[in-house]
Amino acid sequence: MAELIRTFEMKLTVDIGVYRGRSLFPQALSHRECSGGIAIGIDPWSAAYAKQCDNDAIQAELDSWIQKTDFEGLYHDVCAHLIKFNLTAHCRLVRNSSADALALFEQENIFCDMVHIDGNHDTQPVMADLANYLPRLAPGGILILDDTSWSSVKPAFDLAASKLDLIIHDQERDYAVLSKSRSLLEKLHRVTQVRRLHRQAISAAACPDKPSLAVVRRFA
Ligand SMILES: C[S@@+](CC[C@H](N)C(=O)[O-])C[C@H]1O[C@@H](n2cnc3c(N)ncnc32)[C@H](O)[C@@H]1O
Repeated sequence: MAELIRTFEMKLTVDIGVYRGRSLFPQALSHRECSGGIAIGIDPWSAAYAKQCDNDAIQAELDSWIQKTDFEGLYHDVCAHLIKFNLTAHCRLVRNSSADALALFEQENIFCDMVHIDGNHDTQPVMADLANYLPRLAPGGILILDDTSWSSVKPAFDLAASKLDLIIHDQERDYAVLSKSRSLLEKLHRVTQVRRLHRQAISAAACPDKPSLAVVRRFA
């Protein structure tokens, strides 16, 4: 995501489901270093919202994760890390459910260059995320859908793939990258660039002592 922000000079990206910030911080860092933009992180950080019931195979694990997780503490940690790493000018946290946060996008007429959907994985909320945030995706924007192997997420994946151009479906790493291209030429350009970045990211992950991502290089 950091490389997508850099390559496509994205100004506004959205992370639905922040948790500890693993997907949000690289976006904020890339905005600070490369695009001058901002990442909006949406998460209620609440056990009630985090509860998921549609995945029987791992229900016990999901329940125990909620019991063990200190959501209040996580929220304060994310806030503290944004300050510590000097990212506050390039990140806005919205402590709310993605459904309720939508009003902000509508009131402020915000359109997004990239939306990462990784909030509650039950079918109803993930379908609602898609229905709510697809219209907020700018023309040429990129949608990333996480955990596409979950049967509860599959209806959202199928719907997204029917509405957008599917650029990558990485079943091993369990996510999909889709794009809302303006033209055939833009689609070809995006597919080529995004797939190249994807290959780079995979080889960088396989060889952590030789980072190839430009954003990582800047901090090496
Ligand atoms: C899988 S974690 C996110 C992981 C994070 N994106 C990462 O890469 O590490 C799911 C997060 O979604 C949040 N969440 C649950 N319901 C939500 C909702 N309705 N809107 C936004 N976030 C939600 C949970 O609080 C939890 O922190």
